[in-house]
Amino acid sequence: MGPRGAVVSSNGVFSLARTPELRDDATGLGGELRTRLPDGTPVLVRPLRPSDAAELLDGFGHLSDETRRRRFLGAARRLTHEQLRALTNVDGYDHLALGLAVLEGEGPLESLREGHGIAVARSIRDRDEHDLAEYAIVVADAWQRRGAGRLLTRELLRRARLADVVRWRAVMLADNRAVRRLLDGCSRESSRRVLGFGAIEIIYDLCAAAAAS
Ligand SMILES: CC(C)(COP(=O)(O)OP(=O)(O)OC[C@H]1O[C@@H](n2cnc3c(N)ncnc32)[C@H](O)[C@@H]1OP(=O)(O)O)[C@@H](O)C(=O)NCCC(=O)NCCS
Repeated sequence: MGPRGAVVSSNGVFSLARTPELRDDATGLGGELRTRLPDGTPVLVRPLRPSDAAELLDGFGHLSDETRRRRFLGAARRLTHEQLRALTNVDGYDHLALGLAVLEGEGPLESLREGHGIAVARSIRDRDEHDLAEYAIVVADAWQRRGAGRLLTRELLRRARLADVVRWRAVMLADNRAVRRLLDGCSRESSRRVLGFGAIEIIYDLCAAAAAS
């Protein structure tokens, strides 16, 4: 066993992928968070599962051209079957993917049922640098500017830190003030590079994780 109950895989990399029971309470990497957006909307944050593929595809189809362009830098007009599989079959350690869904019903947060998803964020470890991961996020158009992005990013950051990630690489359009504002609140820019076609890459040093609730 490795740190925090992780299992050492054959290539020496700590992996929690095939030990779902460890991904939940023992490590803090899995499990769900029930909380509220600043406007009081009850929401659930949890890791994506393979069964989320259809909803993810549907959500992608409903993004505005502008939001899709900002998330995929103009590259993706549709998701292929392979992409969809890769986006939902995540190991919960090297690839963290969190979805945020509204909670429906009446009563205390614990009793509410999961409704439709409104945001997805991920942290994908770099192949060569163990403590570096690629950050990406998208919030459904109707839910932008309501605190969902910040909430999801903070919870993703908390889990990324548990998975030994201390830096995020974010590739974005240079005029994407929203995501820069989002990341400035929980990290510090350490370098920036122009990639061309209006895109830039920023490396962020992650702050110590704070609870998202
Ligand atoms: C970037 C994005 C995820 C932000 O999510 P969000 O839920 O709207 O963000 P929040 O409501 O939590 O706001 C976070 C901060 O960003 C600011 N912000 C949000 N949208 C903004 C905009 N369009 N312009 C400027 N600032 C903006 C908010 O004011 C807030 O800052 P503050 O608390 O200091 O005032 C969302 O706009 C989005 O999905 N964009 C398209 C995809 C994308 O750009 N992905 C990033 C590429 S990796």
